[in-house]
Amino acid sequence: MNLSFRLNGKALQVECEAQETLAEVLRNTLNLNGTKVSCEVQVCGACTVLVDGLPVSSCTQLAYEVRGKSVLTIEGLEKPDGTLHPIQQAFIDDFAFQCGFCTPGMIMSAKALLDENPKPTRDEIIHYMDGNICRCTGYVPIVAAIHRAAEAIAKENKK
Ligand code: FES
Ligand code: FES
Repeated sequence: MNLSFRLNGKALQVECEAQETLAEVLRNTLNLNGTKVSCEVQVCGACTVLVDGLPVSSCTQLAYEVRGKSVLTIEGLEKPDGTLHPIQQAFIDDFAFQCGFCTPGMIMSAKALLDENPKPTRDEIIHYMDGNICRCTGYVPIVAAIHRAAEAIAKENKK
C-alpha cells in the first residue's frame, strides 16, 4: 500500500505492506536505524518515536496507522547545521548512556515529556520515563540529563 505522512518535517510517500510496523518501515525501507528494536512487544521503549507529538512504540504501531500524521525520530532532532538537540547534548554531558541501545528511545520520550512539562520534578521524570528500560546506567544520569536539558531549553527559549 502507498503511505503518505510527514517524517522529520518533510512530506513523504512510501510503499509498505499492511502488516509492516512503523519500526520496520523506518529501519528497513527508509534506512533510519536510529530507532532501535528490542522486545518487539511494547515493553522496553527502545523503539519510541513521536507521532503527532506523542510517544509511541514503533514496534507495535502499524505503519499505515501513521498515514496523514507527523512522525519524529531521533534523526529529526538535530538542527540542519548539525547542532545537537539540547536533550541529545545533555545525555552526552551527563554520560547518560553506556551501550546506547536504549538512548534514542529515551531521548524521544524525554522530548515528549519536556514538550508537555518543561520543568518536571524528579518524580515526574521517573513516572513519565517508566516505559523506557535501560540495562546499563541505573537511570540516575538519565534523570540528571533530562533536568539539564530542561534548563538548557528554558535558557534557549529566553533568547
Ligand atoms: S522494541 Fe518496541 S517497546 Fe521494546
Ligand atoms: S545504555 Fe545500555 S541499555 Fe541503556
